[in-house]
Amino acid sequence: MNRSKEVILPLLQWYGSNRRDLPWRRTMQPYRILVSEVMLQQTQVDRVIVKYRSFLSQFPSVKRLAEASPADVITAWEGLGYNRRALYLQKAAVMIRSIFSGRFPKEEEALKMLPGVGDYTSRAILSFAFDRPVALLDTNHRKFYARIFGYEMGGSDRKLLEQTKEVVGEILEIPSIFSDGRSMVYHWNQALMDFGATFLVRGADFNTCPIKNFDKKFPEVVLSLRKKKKSVPFRETDRYYRGRIVDLLRKKRQIYLADVRVICADIPLLRQKKIIEGLLGDGLIKKDGYSIILP
Ligand code: ADE
Repeated sequence: MNRSKEVILPLLQWYGSNRRDLPWRRTMQPYRILVSEVMLQQTQVDRVIVKYRSFLSQFPSVKRLAEASPADVITAWEGLGYNRRALYLQKAAVMIRSIFSGRFPKEEEALKMLPGVGDYTSRAILSFAFDRPVALLDTNHRKFYARIFGYEMGGSDRKLLEQTKEVVGEILEIPSIFSDGRSMVYHWNQALMDFGATFLVRGADFNTCPIKNFDKKFPEVVLSLRKKKKSVPFRETDRYYRGRIVDLLRKKRQIYLADVRVICADIPLLRQKKIIEGLLGDGLIKKDGYSIILP
């Protein structure tokens, strides 16, 4: 199969004229890429755009984030959900200053030492901040490689990464069609994000798909993508109550444990206690006498 001609180039050309102008694509500062990637781990692009800007104006550097109080960082995280990520980011900033003497790590293993940075995020930083020719495997990339190149979806990441390396090798050989000095692999990794968001979703318009002739079954496959599993309604989850407690603390700074009972009145006392213990254990709240506060 001539992947370059049939898939890689058409997709990169499509991306060249359709790419989203996202704020984290205008920078290669590793700190900014870290912030964007941690935000994007569990939050939709549209919501991240607004928060990314406000977060960086409040904490414009690793130094400023490391020096901030966890309470301020948690407060700035409002609206993004999964608040633990705010603590991870701040701890990462503290570690970069203390363990790495303020120099942003550039190796995968070192990056993975940072809290909240796993296999995907470390490689995303290598690609998007340091323009290293690495294969990325987020959900979009996985779906793409599985469908187009027949790679195993459920297979081990080690094997999938080996296979995607071949693709990266091919891309390295293609002369650049971009004039911004970034490599074709950088753009390929970004392009798959946009391709996934445009074509690997329900209701996609396949007439504009750059590789529709390569894979005529594409629409069917996308339509058959598994429907979201029926899950527990959000308002019944612990995460909902955790979020409510932290949200209230963002506003009031301090709440009596007795008041927590009021906002969690619809669940049993034992579950309330577990939720508070969970928040304490994660370091998202602190006890202060009969009250709780942000750390
Ligand atoms: N999700 C994670 N990283 C992304 C990026 N760079 N662009 C769009 N969506 C993303």
